[in-house]
Amino acid sequence: MPQLLTGKTALVTGGSRGIGRAVAERLASEGAAVALTYNASRAGADEAVAAIEQAGGSAFALQADLSDAGAVPDLFSRLDRELVERTGSTSLDVLVNNAGNSGWGGLADSTPESWDTMFAVQARAPFFVVQSALSRLADGGRVVNVSSAAGARPMQSVPVYSMAKAGINNLTRALAMELGPRGVTVNAVAPGWVRTDMNTAVRENADLVASIEADTALGRFGDVSDIAAVVAFLASDEGRWVTGQVIEASGGYQL
Ligand SMILES: NC(=O)c1ccc[n+]([C@@H]2O[C@H](COP(=O)([O-])OP(=O)(O)OC[C@H]3O[C@@H](n4cnc5c(N)ncnc54)[C@H](OP(=O)(O)O)[C@@H]3O)[C@@H](O)[C@H]2O)c1
Repeated sequence: MPQLLTGKTALVTGGSRGIGRAVAERLASEGAAVALTYNASRAGADEAVAAIEQAGGSAFALQADLSDAGAVPDLFSRLDRELVERTGSTSLDVLVNNAGNSGWGGLADSTPESWDTMFAVQARAPFFVVQSALSRLADGGRVVNVSSAAGARPMQSVPVYSMAKAGINNLTRALAMELGPRGVTVNAVAPGWVRTDMNTAVRENADLVASIEADTALGRFGDVSDIAAVVAFLASDEGRWVTGQVIEASGGYQL
């Protein structure tokens, strides 16, 4: 099979676990040199890099706590240094804003502090990561934001998370217009329920699992590779005419 991203560079935030790790591995398997970020999971990030290298790909990991606004410029100066060392330039072809925190918070138990932290990682960081990426992003490049089905159909139990993801959907459209003249596409992938650490507690509840599966046309939780496949399409030349879209990848949840 020909690789879709040979010679390209990619940055995937939150690549140490879950969906982000699968995206990093998939983009690397398509030939991209991948920078992946992590916050607390140094071991997970090292494992992801090792798995990519073992499969013949190229990757490196950078630490960044995206709840801290100051982390973004620092992340990009380290990214620049690593990219120059590996590729001779700071040019970035694909940016995937994936990192996300849980501790989702309901209406009654949210605090201004928990609200701010959720928004910092889920909404503020993607905005400023794109802002920092602007001068590095190659013409014809790609931005993919990992949103959620909850961005369009809010979940009653997690209003703060749902609000943040609605913001990402909106930002996706605004950025598509902003970056279109440079041939950069900007899209969001909105997963439904995917088996990751983010919903371990949900998956321990057999009744809840049965009800989610019954409400999903394809009858199961998503696998991280299901989401990575959509991101890889959007990141590739095959996705060149798709921009400003929120593509739900949920196996048909709540149709
Ligand atoms: N799983 C689902 O069902 C689902 C559904 C819809 C949307 N999503 C979205 O998909 C994305 C990935 O979620 P996931 O399920 O793969 O989650 P996950 O397995 O919990 O992984 C979360 C990733 O985000 C990183 N992260 C968390 N807090 C961070 C912070 N403060 N600064 C920087 N990075 C941070 C983590 O890094 P460390 O491990 O280093 O802390 C990890 O790499 C998120 O945006 C999430 O909202 C997930």
